[in-house]
Amino acid sequence: MKYNSDFDIRFAEVKKEFEWLYMELYNSRDSLSKLELLLSSYNKNRSNSLKELDKTRQNNINWYRSNKMLGITLYTDLFCSNLKSLITKIPYLKELGIDYLHLMPLLKMPSENNDGGYAVDDFEKINETIGSNEDFEKLTNELRNNNISLCLDFVMNHTSDTHRWAIEAKKGNIEYQNYYYITNDSNFMSEYEKHVPQVFPTTAPGNFTYIECLKKWALTSFYPFQWDLNYQNPKVFFEMIKAFLTLANMGVEIFRLDAVPYIWKQLGTNCRNLKQVHTIVRMLRIVIECVCPAVILKGEVVMAPKELSAYFGTPESPECHILYNVSCMVNLWSSLASKDIRLLNDQLNLIHSLPENSYFINYIRCHDDIGWGLDEEAEIKFGIDPQLHKEFLYHFYIGQFENSYAKGLLYNFDYLSKDARSCGTTASLCGLETAKNIAARNIAINRILLMHSCMFSFYGFPMLNSGDEVGQLNDWSYFEKTNLKNDSRNLHRSKFDWVKAKNRYKISSSENSIWCGLQKLIFLRKSIECFDINSSISTWDTGNNHVLSIVRKKNTSLLICIFNFSDEIQTIQIKCLDDKYVDLISGQIYDLSSSFYINPYQYLWLTKQKSNK
Ligand code: GLC
Repeated sequence: MKYNSDFDIRFAEVKKEFEWLYMELYNSRDSLSKLELLLSSYNKNRSNSLKELDKTRQNNINWYRSNKMLGITLYTDLFCSNLKSLITKIPYLKELGIDYLHLMPLLKMPSENNDGGYAVDDFEKINETIGSNEDFEKLTNELRNNNISLCLDFVMNHTSDTHRWAIEAKKGNIEYQNYYYITNDSNFMSEYEKHVPQVFPTTAPGNFTYIECLKKWALTSFYPFQWDLNYQNPKVFFEMIKAFLTLANMGVEIFRLDAVPYIWKQLGTNCRNLKQVHTIVRMLRIVIECVCPAVILKGEVVMAPKELSAYFGTPESPECHILYNVSCMVNLWSSLASKDIRLLNDQLNLIHSLPENSYFINYIRCHDDIGWGLDEEAEIKFGIDPQLHKEFLYHFYIGQFENSYAKGLLYNFDYLSKDARSCGTTASLCGLETAKNIAARNIAINRILLMHSCMFSFYGFPMLNSGDEVGQLNDWSYFEKTNLKNDSRNLHRSKFDWVKAKNRYKISSSENSIWCGLQKLIFLRKSIECFDINSSISTWDTGNNHVLSIVRKKNTSLLICIFNFSDEIQTIQIKCLDDKYVDLISGQIYDLSSSFYINPYQYLWLTKQKSNK
């Protein structure tokens, strides 16, 4: 066999598996050949600089596991209005230490009803309000020159109802109706509703939306203006792969697979995490490894740890490279409110016991709400009532609980199940917005830094949420904007405040304290060997339910990270250690041979004190 390109060589190795998977789903040789031609042509059209990156990454396949990685997520328009001006903000990102930039959806979208860009009109075109495809390519080039990898959402599950496929479908074109689930079959709909839970029970109840002009219904799992794509149709798979590769060839290096567990539907199931979803993700992994090996996949899988590991696949047949560490994020907030670390400790142990091919992106806040999907079995084990605990948490984070310092809003409160989620920025949820005096302000800042230092210590790499680095507060003005007011997630999706950002240099401002506190953590994380690839990680008992301890080891080095989630001084005891340790954050020396004190909301990164001998 004669190979013409690197692609041919790479594809030859996996062709059998790829074809097997494809035929299992679509059983069509014709469409398979068409798809293979598409892959090869996209590889051919990749720019030289991206091909260069492909080569570098093939020689360093674990590049994203480096302790140098620090991410940030932001909306281009809120951060600095458009893509051109984003290029001028690269120095700010570099100053912060960013290597990974997740830009929130920026593809062509309707001006209203766009779910923050998660309703896409065209998967291959940048939204004109923030720039052109050329601007986007310029940006990805500039980022690459600055060693910053760009991450973009790949909204797989649905299109907007104004995407050209939906428009054709509304005109009665059956070919395009088959891109979606358009139906009149009341049996199908009632069976579907019986088995499939709702994603947004309050803001978008029901799974179907009536399309007046067709006198038919469309499956709309999320908002009524987001039509679910029908992946049982090979044309949909083909078109989505084409869009994916177009973006990869424009310089996207990390794809966030939005709402990926939902993409395959099968009547009689809950339509989540089905086996066919994994077939598709596995095919996507093969596609990138053959066409654009510099690219990696990040799954948005908002599920419990036991559900997560399936999305990493197996070492022989890998799927996603990274997933969000959702459960630890939620449990961080639960620990802060309850001052009890047992649930978080339990989740960390579950994460640490996952196979080695798993890797996480850690975060405190993102553009979405905090959904209180805690591990009920663990709660029961600790004598915590799951429903009461959930109600406590969402009341706490809207400030409706005795001694609550938090200021936030509810999201999708469901009267029947008493389920609700929480919204608000990190700073406001940690008490900076309600702080009336310097003492309260300083405590809020301690909480913000405690949350970050703990998240920085988790397995995986950290991602900041833009604005958190200077303690940005909630933006209550969203309520005056007609197109935003019905979605309380807009409370924490505010315009970046550049005046506030300037205060990062103003000594003793809250911005300066948060910025400098984070800078210390960022610097240490990038330089300490115990955060390095292949370091091992576990939790240690501190003998105190208010205080968490995570221990990282690399070769003979040991880093003991300790976090006090309570507002009082705590005594702890770390067993089996008799040496003097230095806290890399404060420089203070601790003797671990007996019990010792830790201040309210204090965090320590302890390492063995070097002897002077
Ligand atoms: C994801 C996004 C969320 C969006 C939903 C629908 O969960 O994070 O913001 O509303 O997908 O696309």
